Amino acid sequence: MVDVLGVALGAVLTLVAVAMHYSKGTGWEANDDISQEVIEKRAATVPETEFPEPMNRSIGGGGAPAGAVAGGTEGELAEGGEEEEDAGFDPDAIDDDEVEVYEIEFAKEGETIEIANNENILDMGEEEGWDMPYACREGSCLSCAGHIEEGPAQDYIQHSNNDTLNEDEMEQGYCLTCTAYPTSDFTLETGEQP
Ligand code: FES
Repeated sequence: MVDVLGVALGAVLTLVAVAMHYSKGTGWEANDDISQEVIEKRAATVPETEFPEPMNRSIGGGGAPAGAVAGGTEGELAEGGEEEEDAGFDPDAIDDDEVEVYEIEFAKEGETIEIANNENILDMGEEEGWDMPYACREGSCLSCAGHIEEGPAQDYIQHSNNDTLNEDEMEQGYCLTCTAYPTSDFTLETGEQP
Protein backbone atom coordinates (compact mmCIF):
# COMPACT_ATOMS: atom_id res chain seq x y z
CA MET A 1 0.00 0.00 0.00
CA VAL A 2 2.78 2.40 0.94
CA ASP A 3 4.59 1.58 -2.28
CA VAL A 4 1.50 2.37 -4.35
CA LEU A 5 1.09 5.71 -2.61
CA GLY A 6 4.77 6.49 -3.12
CA VAL A 7 4.63 5.68 -6.81
CA ALA A 8 1.45 7.71 -7.23
CA LEU A 9 2.98 10.71 -5.41
CA GLY A 10 6.11 10.45 -7.53
CA ALA A 11 4.04 10.33 -10.70
CA VAL A 12 2.03 13.39 -9.66
CA LEU A 13 5.17 15.38 -8.84
CA THR A 14 6.72 14.39 -12.15
CA LEU A 15 3.61 15.56 -14.00
CA VAL A 16 3.67 18.87 -12.10
CA ALA A 17 7.34 19.35 -12.98
CA VAL A 18 6.69 18.61 -16.65
CA ALA A 19 3.69 20.95 -16.69
CA MET A 20 5.78 23.76 -15.15
CA HIS A 21 8.54 23.16 -17.65
CA TYR A 22 6.20 23.71 -20.59
CA SER A 23 4.15 26.53 -19.06
CA LYS A 24 4.65 29.99 -20.60
CA GLY A 25 5.88 31.79 -17.51
CA THR A 26 5.06 35.39 -16.58
CA GLY A 27 6.07 36.99 -19.85
CA TRP A 28 8.75 39.13 -18.06
CA GLU A 29 11.56 40.30 -20.27
CA ALA A 30 14.79 42.03 -19.31
CA ASN A 31 15.07 45.71 -20.18
CA ASP A 32 17.33 46.66 -23.04
CA ASP A 33 20.91 47.25 -21.96
CA ILE A 34 21.45 51.00 -22.48
CA SER A 35 24.80 51.22 -20.72
CA GLN A 36 26.73 51.52 -24.00
CA GLU A 37 24.42 54.30 -25.16
CA VAL A 38 24.93 56.19 -21.89
CA ILE A 39 28.71 55.81 -22.11
CA GLU A 40 28.73 57.09 -25.70
CA LYS A 41 26.59 60.10 -24.78
CA ARG A 42 28.88 61.04 -21.92
CA ALA A 43 31.98 60.47 -24.02
CA ALA A 44 30.62 62.90 -26.61
CA THR A 45 30.67 65.68 -23.99
CA VAL A 46 34.36 65.25 -23.14
CA PRO A 47 36.93 67.09 -25.27
CA GLU A 48 39.15 64.70 -27.15
CA THR A 49 42.90 64.61 -26.86
CA GLU A 50 45.30 63.51 -29.55
CA PHE A 51 47.73 61.70 -27.31
CA PRO A 52 47.80 58.69 -25.05
CA GLU A 53 46.90 60.07 -21.67
CA PRO A 54 46.82 57.66 -18.75
CA MET A 55 45.82 60.30 -16.24
CA ASN A 56 43.45 62.30 -18.38
CA ARG A 57 40.14 63.22 -16.80
CA SER A 58 37.94 60.22 -17.33
CA ILE A 59 34.57 60.25 -18.97
CA GLY A 60 32.24 62.32 -16.87
CA GLY A 61 35.07 63.78 -14.85
CA GLY A 62 34.39 67.20 -16.26
CA GLY A 63 36.59 70.11 -15.43
CA ALA A 64 36.98 71.58 -18.88
CA PRO A 65 35.78 75.17 -18.78
CA ALA A 66 32.32 75.76 -20.18
CA GLY A 67 32.60 76.49 -23.87
CA ALA A 68 35.94 74.76 -24.25
CA VAL A 69 36.61 73.74 -27.81
CA ALA A 70 37.00 70.02 -28.26
CA GLY A 71 40.36 69.22 -29.76
CA GLY A 72 41.18 72.90 -29.89
CA THR A 73 44.48 74.07 -31.17
CA GLU A 74 47.03 75.84 -29.07
CA GLY A 75 45.81 79.24 -28.09
CA GLU A 76 42.11 78.42 -28.36
CA LEU A 77 40.78 78.92 -24.88
CA ALA A 78 37.50 78.90 -23.09
CA GLU A 79 35.26 81.92 -23.03
CA GLY A 80 34.89 83.95 -19.92
CA GLY A 81 37.71 82.46 -17.88
CA GLU A 82 40.98 83.86 -16.65
CA GLU A 83 42.51 81.75 -19.39
CA GLU A 84 41.66 84.51 -21.85
CA GLU A 85 44.44 86.56 -20.33
CA ASP A 86 46.84 83.79 -21.30
CA ALA A 87 45.67 83.59 -24.88
CA GLY A 88 48.47 84.41 -27.23
CA PHE A 89 51.17 84.41 -24.56
CA ASP A 90 54.30 83.37 -26.39
CA PRO A 91 57.45 82.98 -24.30
CA ASP A 92 59.58 83.07 -27.46
CA ALA A 93 58.34 86.60 -28.14
CA ILE A 94 59.94 87.98 -24.97
CA ASP A 95 62.87 90.21 -25.91
CA ASP A 96 66.19 89.62 -24.23
CA ASP A 97 65.93 92.91 -22.35
CA GLU A 98 62.52 91.84 -21.02
CA VAL A 99 63.71 88.56 -19.59
CA GLU A 100 63.28 88.41 -15.83
CA VAL A 101 64.39 85.63 -13.53
CA TYR A 102 62.41 84.38 -10.55
CA GLU A 103 63.13 82.08 -7.66
CA ILE A 104 60.87 79.06 -7.65
CA GLU A 105 60.94 76.78 -4.64
CA PHE A 106 60.05 73.18 -5.44
CA ALA A 107 58.60 72.13 -2.09
CA LYS A 108 58.65 68.35 -2.57
CA GLU A 109 62.07 68.35 -4.18
CA GLY A 110 63.39 70.54 -1.37
CA GLU A 111 65.23 73.00 -3.63
CA THR A 112 64.85 76.48 -5.01
CA ILE A 113 65.91 77.16 -8.59
CA GLU A 114 65.94 80.22 -10.83
CA ILE A 115 63.54 80.19 -13.76
CA ALA A 116 63.18 83.02 -16.27
CA ASN A 117 59.86 84.27 -17.56
CA ASN A 118 60.60 82.63 -20.92
CA GLU A 119 61.53 79.29 -19.39
CA ASN A 120 59.04 76.54 -18.83
CA ILE A 121 58.60 75.25 -15.30
CA LEU A 122 58.32 71.57 -16.26
CA ASP A 123 61.38 71.78 -18.52
CA MET A 124 63.47 73.45 -15.85
CA GLY A 125 62.44 70.92 -13.22
CA GLU A 126 63.46 68.11 -15.55
CA GLU A 127 66.79 69.80 -16.17
CA GLU A 128 67.42 69.44 -12.46
CA GLY A 129 66.92 65.71 -12.91
CA TRP A 130 63.61 65.58 -11.09
CA ASP A 131 60.98 63.07 -12.11
CA MET A 132 58.21 65.49 -12.99
CA PRO A 133 54.78 64.11 -13.98
CA TYR A 134 53.50 64.92 -17.49
CA ALA A 135 51.70 63.45 -20.49
CA CYS A 136 50.70 65.79 -23.32
CA ARG A 137 53.08 68.70 -22.65
CA GLU A 138 50.66 71.07 -24.37
CA GLY A 139 48.20 72.12 -21.69
CA SER A 140 45.51 69.67 -22.70
CA CYS A 141 45.44 67.27 -19.77
CA LEU A 142 46.07 67.42 -16.04
CA SER A 143 49.03 65.12 -15.59
CA CYS A 144 51.60 67.86 -14.97
CA ALA A 145 49.46 69.96 -12.62
CA GLY A 146 51.07 71.56 -9.62
CA HIS A 147 49.94 73.82 -6.81
CA ILE A 148 51.26 77.27 -6.05
CA GLU A 149 51.21 77.71 -2.30
CA GLU A 150 51.07 81.49 -2.19
CA GLY A 151 47.74 81.96 -3.92
CA PRO A 152 45.99 82.33 -7.28
CA ALA A 153 48.07 80.93 -10.12
CA GLN A 154 47.22 83.97 -12.23
CA ASP A 155 49.38 86.10 -9.90
CA TYR A 156 52.49 83.94 -10.28
CA ILE A 157 52.54 82.30 -13.72
CA GLN A 158 51.33 82.66 -17.28
CA HIS A 159 50.14 79.69 -19.32
CA SER A 160 51.08 79.56 -22.98
CA ASN A 161 48.13 77.20 -23.35
CA ASN A 162 45.49 75.94 -20.95
CA ASP A 163 42.67 73.72 -22.15
CA THR A 164 42.14 72.08 -18.79
CA LEU A 165 42.05 74.25 -15.69
CA ASN A 166 39.11 76.55 -15.11
CA GLU A 167 39.22 79.90 -13.40
CA ASP A 168 38.26 78.55 -9.98
CA GLU A 169 41.01 75.93 -10.06
CA MET A 170 43.57 78.58 -10.98
CA GLU A 171 42.24 80.82 -8.21
CA GLN A 172 43.00 77.94 -5.85
CA GLY A 173 46.61 77.99 -7.04
CA TYR A 174 46.68 75.15 -9.56
CA CYS A 175 48.70 75.44 -12.75
CA LEU A 176 49.86 73.26 -15.64
CA THR A 177 53.63 73.13 -15.29
CA CYS A 178 54.11 72.07 -18.92
CA THR A 179 52.80 75.40 -20.21
CA ALA A 180 53.50 77.63 -17.18
CA TYR A 181 56.06 80.45 -17.16
CA PRO A 182 56.77 82.39 -13.95
CA THR A 183 55.89 86.03 -13.44
CA SER A 184 56.93 86.12 -9.77
CA ASP A 185 58.71 84.12 -7.07
CA PHE A 186 56.63 81.33 -5.56
CA THR A 187 56.62 77.88 -3.96
CA LEU A 188 55.39 75.01 -6.12
CA GLU A 189 54.11 71.61 -5.03
CA THR A 190 54.51 69.30 -8.02
CA GLY A 191 52.11 66.43 -8.69
CA GLU A 192 49.09 68.20 -7.17
CA GLN A 193 45.79 68.18 -9.05
CA PRO A 194 42.54 69.97 -8.25
S1 FES B 1 51.28 67.42 -19.45
FE1 FES B 1 49.24 67.63 -20.17
S2 FES B 1 48.68 69.60 -19.46
FE2 FES B 1 50.73 69.41 -18.89
